[in-house]
Amino acid sequence: MNTKINLAGIEMKNPVTVASGTFGYGREFSQFFDLSKLGGIITKGTSLKPKSGNKPPRVCETSSGMLNSIGLQNPGVEYFAQNDLPFLKKFDTAIIVNACGSSVDEYVELCKILNTLDIDGVELNLSCPNVKEGCMAFGNTYEGVKEVTSQVRKVLDKPLIVKLTPNVTDIVSIAKAVEDAGADGVSLINTLLGMKIDIDKRKPALANKTGGLSGPAIKPVAVRMVYQVAKAVNVPILGMGGIVNGEDAIEFMLAGATAVSIGAGNFIDPYTSIKTIEGIEEYMKKYNVNDINEIIGDVP
Ligand SMILES: Cc1cc2nc3c(=O)[nH]c(=O)nc-3n(C[C@H](O)[C@H](O)[C@H](O)COP(=O)(O)O)c2cc1C
Repeated sequence: MNTKINLAGIEMKNPVTVASGTFGYGREFSQFFDLSKLGGIITKGTSLKPKSGNKPPRVCETSSGMLNSIGLQNPGVEYFAQNDLPFLKKFDTAIIVNACGSSVDEYVELCKILNTLDIDGVELNLSCPNVKEGCMAFGNTYEGVKEVTSQVRKVLDKPLIVKLTPNVTDIVSIAKAVEDAGADGVSLINTLLGMKIDIDKRKPALANKTGGLSGPAIKPVAVRMVYQVAKAVNVPILGMGGIVNGEDAIEFMLAGATAVSIGAGNFIDPYTSIKTIEGIEEYMKKYNVNDINEIIGDVP
């Protein structure tokens, strides 16, 4: 059975990665399993300079999901390069850095540095709903995504995957803009903008008032978007949104994803990604699938 895939020029032993912001830089999860088992690790959103993020409370549970408004807390790219990357390089897995900025120049400066590091690719986060400026400000217009992607493309020789926000009217046109601007792949979906109210306190549950919804609650939206984008672009898709087992991952791949990411599922059970890899293999055995690539986009 072949489970190897190639995502935008990145070779992976299997299609399962862990989603940005739900796996830190891998240290905590390495206590539970060998990170080399993963197809790839997408790092926490990393910016040019350190960010302290939003005020707490920054997460809360919702029906079949969770809201977060972390606000891209991270130690900055220099700290990452000196401390986290050497740790991650001990494992035989693809390392993709999730890159975030608040202006085109900041994305470009960050990607110039990322281009010099020993990483397999960059996932450009144009989609975070929780920061006042940047990310989604670029991510929800055709011109915005095209501008950032094309400027970053000029300085980045490594595989470039652009992560899209679902908080748009027409996901297909945004994905096409990214493809036209030279991206090697697209990643979808980031979280859906949501809100929860604490009815006892009569206040929003999150200090930021709104946050990003993730987990099983968003899976049908994500599958629909992956399916629509897969039918419209020629670049590969990294699919995510509510995946918690092998069957969910297969659903995304049938919709057109070449690889998948596990996000909120990591908080439910630290072994979710490993169980998803096993679940994909079980499906392959059950349906005599010799090569996982056969099922990508195999839904009319
Ligand atoms: C706590 C938390 C932090 C996140 N941080 C980031 C981030 O830094 N960059 C990013 O691109 N996406 C971030 N995301 C979005 C996830 O990577 C993923 O796109 C989204 O949660 C949908 O997948 P899921 O339903 O499996 O969680 C974050 C999600 C959560 C729950």
